[in-house]
Amino acid sequence: MTKTIQLDDNFGKYSGLTLHEMISSDKIQNRIKEMAAEISRDYKGKSPIMIGVLNGSFIFFADLIREMDVQAEVDFIKISSYANETRTSGTVRLLKDISCDITGRDVIVIEDIIDSGLSIDFLRRRLQDSQASSVKFAALLIKDYTQLNFDIDYIGFTIPDKFVVGYGLDLAQKMRNLKAIYYLNQEGHK
Ligand code: IMP
Ligand code: MG
Repeated sequence: MTKTIQLDDNFGKYSGLTLHEMISSDKIQNRIKEMAAEISRDYKGKSPIMIGVLNGSFIFFADLIREMDVQAEVDFIKISSYANETRTSGTVRLLKDISCDITGRDVIVIEDIIDSGLSIDFLRRRLQDSQASSVKFAALLIKDYTQLNFDIDYIGFTIPDKFVVGYGLDLAQKMRNLKAIYYLNQEGHK
């Protein structure tokens, strides 16, 4: 039986809706081990800087780096593209820039999920102008309808176009602490 979570009155307009488990904690952890092994092979003997995209990637990032066996450095960037909670606003704002110098460095951008692709495209364009020696992208999730004009180097799971929460991803800033990934069952909503 699939696991569900009923949203109570604390969830305002979402109260009464149900979250259904989409990807179990075990599946996430197994896939992350595979991704970490692949990244470790690709960066053997190198010292990449991994840039986590806040807030959603923080749990994925922490689990991924602990499964890797290369000496990576970490930094963070914070952007915002969602005007309300479940739909992209169409514009991306930089809320916090990286603080390290990436000149001549191998950079890996760590994203939680790629939906419209606006955020990752914004990051790609920003990093393109830097003097990094290489830039790659890792995302735990990508939606099956997403169209990009560049490749994502490491992808965890391709998922249907549903709003998902848990494992770092939020529903109105909550639910990030769920160990599995759930989708929001909301009639008439994407
Ligand atoms: P994009 O710019 O539309 O690709 O969306 C990227 C960002 O929006 C992600 O990094 C997430 O922070 C957030 N986001 C997109 N889809 C979802 C979702 O289904 N659940 C939670 N956050 C999401
Ligand atoms: Mg994000």
